[in-house]
Amino acid sequence: MGYKSSRTVISVLQLLIFFTLTEATTTFYRATLCDVKTRLANKCMTSVNKPERIVNCCVRCSSDSSCLGASVQLNTSSCYIHTQCSGTTDCSKGDPGFKYYSKRPDKLPCVYGTWNEATWSCKCSYPRVGKLCDRLPTNCTEFGQYWPTTYGDSMIALNPSPINRNVITVCSRTKDSLSTIVLRNVGEQNFNRTLSDYVQGFLTNPPPYNLSFWVGMDAMPSLLGPTPRNMRISIFFNSATPKRYDYRYSGVVLGDSSTNYMLTYESYTALSGAPNGNCLELSNMTSFSTWDSDNDKDSTENWASRAGAGWWFPSSNFTCNPLGAFYNKSTPPTDDGYLRFPGISTDLIRNNLVRIELHIEDPYA
Ligand SMILES: *[C@@H]1O[C@H](CO)[C@@H](O)[C@H](O)[C@H]1NC(C)=O
Ligand SMILES: *[C@@H]1O[C@H](CO)[C@@H](O)[C@H](O)[C@H]1NC(C)=O
Ligand SMILES: *[C@@H]1O[C@H](CO)[C@@H](O)[C@H](O)[C@H]1NC(C)=O
Ligand SMILES: *[C@@H]1O[C@H](CO)[C@@H](O)[C@H](O)[C@H]1NC(C)=O
Ligand SMILES: *[C@@H]1O[C@H](CO)[C@@H](O)[C@H](O)[C@H]1NC(C)=O
Ligand SMILES: *[C@@H]1O[C@H](CO)[C@@H](O)[C@H](O)[C@H]1NC(C)=O
Ligand SMILES: *[C@@H]1O[C@H](CO)[C@@H](O)[C@H](O)[C@H]1NC(C)=O
Repeated sequence: MGYKSSRTVISVLQLLIFFTLTEATTTFYRATLCDVKTRLANKCMTSVNKPERIVNCCVRCSSDSSCLGASVQLNTSSCYIHTQCSGTTDCSKGDPGFKYYSKRPDKLPCVYGTWNEATWSCKCSYPRVGKLCDRLPTNCTEFGQYWPTTYGDSMIALNPSPINRNVITVCSRTKDSLSTIVLRNVGEQNFNRTLSDYVQGFLTNPPPYNLSFWVGMDAMPSLLGPTPRNMRISIFFNSATPKRYDYRYSGVVLGDSSTNYMLTYESYTALSGAPNGNCLELSNMTSFSTWDSDNDKDSTENWASRAGAGWWFPSSNFTCNPLGAFYNKSTPPTDDGYLRFPGISTDLIRNNLVRIELHIEDPYA
């Protein structure tokens, strides 16, 4: 149904009313009116003291930029004009005594959150995100956008598309940086695992945020994003000096299963105070190895099995085993199974190592 006048074209649909004035189009959405009492008291709903058809009430609203919607009381046909509400309104149930059309879509069904009348949007419950608060963050950048003042390490579940599982990880935020911890070794976990474990990820269950985990090769590409990113290896000690060492890898690209998760990076930097110690010195363009998937460049030896851990092991000359066993293990590992890191003395690792982490550095937002 519709009609035309010289200045205005109005069409009334079942759910929407469109006004095409000569200058602009205004769309009105059928919406549910709630908490009329509060709105009237707060003067964000005002009677124009005239009975009107809803269409005419909407025409009145369409030419007024401060008007957010129009409604007509069913039993009296009184027209009401709606403006911004600053207070909170109880929208748990609608008022059926009004026909209400809003310039904004009807309030959304907030799945894990509450309706915020002032911003006309869902306010999500931690750590949900999205218009309807119905999903987990895709990555730590998105987490940071929704929870900008959550500093420190937050263990949360991400849902990085197109992975079909939730990925437990830690978003680490300081006043000027944001990163995704994809690997943490605090010594309580045995990292001598199968490739399948390394693809799917693993953690200590239930997962206190400060224990060991590995997010999984399947999640890594989407956490890294489509363009080459920076990764950082951070090593923490329980001594005053050093407290921690940081090593940055720029331009990191990780291949998928077809390359056995081949790692490529552009450059390496030991950050302030850290001794030179490139854990991936010989690992550029190297596939990932585990005891059951030997992809190192030594055809005579299985170095992942000897190291008792997974890593991008290059060859027999391996100097780095960040997922190896801590020295306080009651059962000493065989072969070369202890944790080692180039440039860091065995004494420091033996006596003062607290944890090793691998971070993806996220754009800071
Ligand atoms: C119209 O309905 C409202 C409830 O929606 C009621 O409070 C009011 O008294 C009614 N007015 C008339 C004139 O019937
Ligand atoms: C992890 O946190 C718990 C609780 O705060 C603490 O008791 C425990 O010592 C921590 N473990 C490590 C390895 O830091
Ligand atoms: C993080 O997730 C958001 C939302 O899905 C997406 O727009 C953004 O591109 C992602 N960032 C990276 C670096 O992948
Ligand atoms: C790693 O290999 C890539 C591809 O050959 C190359 O572009 C890059 O410069 C290498 N990185 C380092 C640190 O040598
Ligand atoms: C790692 O596990 C494999 C398979 O069980 C075993 O052969 C190897 O000795 C282990 N490595 C270490 C260092 O314990
Ligand atoms: C072994 O690796 C170190 C650095 O990690 C390198 O300086 C050295 O030349 C390598 N030795 C051999 C025999 O490849
Ligand atoms: C070894 O040290 C780590 C880190 O301090 C701790 O989490 C772990 O429980 C210790 N393991 C043993 C067997 O003492």
